[in-house]
Amino acid sequence: MNPLNPFAPPSRVITVVLNPALDHTIEVAGLRLGAVNHALRMQVEAGGKAINVASCLADFGVSAAVTGQLGRDNAALFEALFQRKKIANHCHLLDGLTRINTKLVDTVSGETTDLNLPGPELTPATAADLLEQVLQHLDRLLEGARWVVLSGSLPPGMPADAYATLARRAHAAGAAVVLDTSGAPLKLALAAGPQMIKPNRHELAELVGEPLATREALIAAGRALLNGPHTPETVVVSLGGDGALFLTREQALHAHPLPVAVTSTVGAGDAMVAGLVAAHLENLALVETAQLATAFSASKLTRLGPHLPPPDQVRALARQVAVSTID
Ligand SMILES: Nc1ncnc2c1ncn2[C@@H]1O[C@H](COP(=O)(O)OP(=O)(O)OP(=O)(O)O)[C@@H](O)[C@H]1O
Ligand SMILES: [Mg+2]
Repeated sequence: MNPLNPFAPPSRVITVVLNPALDHTIEVAGLRLGAVNHALRMQVEAGGKAINVASCLADFGVSAAVTGQLGRDNAALFEALFQRKKIANHCHLLDGLTRINTKLVDTVSGETTDLNLPGPELTPATAADLLEQVLQHLDRLLEGARWVVLSGSLPPGMPADAYATLARRAHAAGAAVVLDTSGAPLKLALAAGPQMIKPNRHELAELVGEPLATREALIAAGRALLNGPHTPETVVVSLGGDGALFLTREQALHAHPLPVAVTSTVGAGDAMVAGLVAAHLENLALVETAQLATAFSASKLTRLGPHLPPPDQVRALARQVAVSTID
């Protein structure tokens, strides 16, 4: 149920945010370390991968709910985003602050310096309690939900199999799972049989333990996952400025990126995950899925935060995405 509106229809997509972040961007002309710098501008955006996915889905008109955790002491920006976009908020409040990741943008060199924090250090008891709370929210929200999005890192202290546990619970209720994470959480949750995964090339290389320097190597690694013991139905490998590979057991496609003016690449992959889910809700074929997911990413690239233009503009962009078949 949506606490903002108990009469609202159930959310079709649930995204799980276990390690949210506020993205704090500061612009400086000529950053000097160890000196007093006079900054030009700052912007703070509610972030975290699962929140970015929900935000893009909401902009496309898909009803989304978020569950997971937020720090009680700076939850206001997240709550404002949820209210503005009519995202149902089912997050558990933890004591303290949500981590703040700082991006220092040097307007002279064009370089960005990221200062990222790991997230709250959870004790075994806090981690177990949080996971239980999220499972309870999930159980309630799963009535009527078609997709569960598990994306982003886990906070320190959260067991690495948390996504595997959540994926099994989603499957038990008949929902499909898309997984977008890395390292041990990816490896362990893969064993729970998510319907779709979206590693970027580095995450896929780490998963299979090989460098994957060529497109052929990436396709072979993706295909091996599709034929493995717990096979996802779709593997999407995003390649940044080189586009993305869309692989199923029957088809292999390369969706080429759109030539857009890039404002920020942060969250381009999250927008792609949102586009993948939106395409599945519309039962699109793989070519149209690849086009819509790429259009979601391209639309986000022109903006600083996880926001999309109106849906008809995204659909118009999707029709311009070139997709080639890989033999
Ligand atoms: N520089 C770029 N120019 C054009 N398109 C891009 C660019 N960077 C990313 N994209 C588009 O966005 C998609 C996803 O980007 P990317 O592979 O960087 O995801 P990611 O590494 O998962 O990002 P994140 O996790 O930060 O959201 C790409 O497949 C591509 O379509
Ligand atoms: Mg990513």
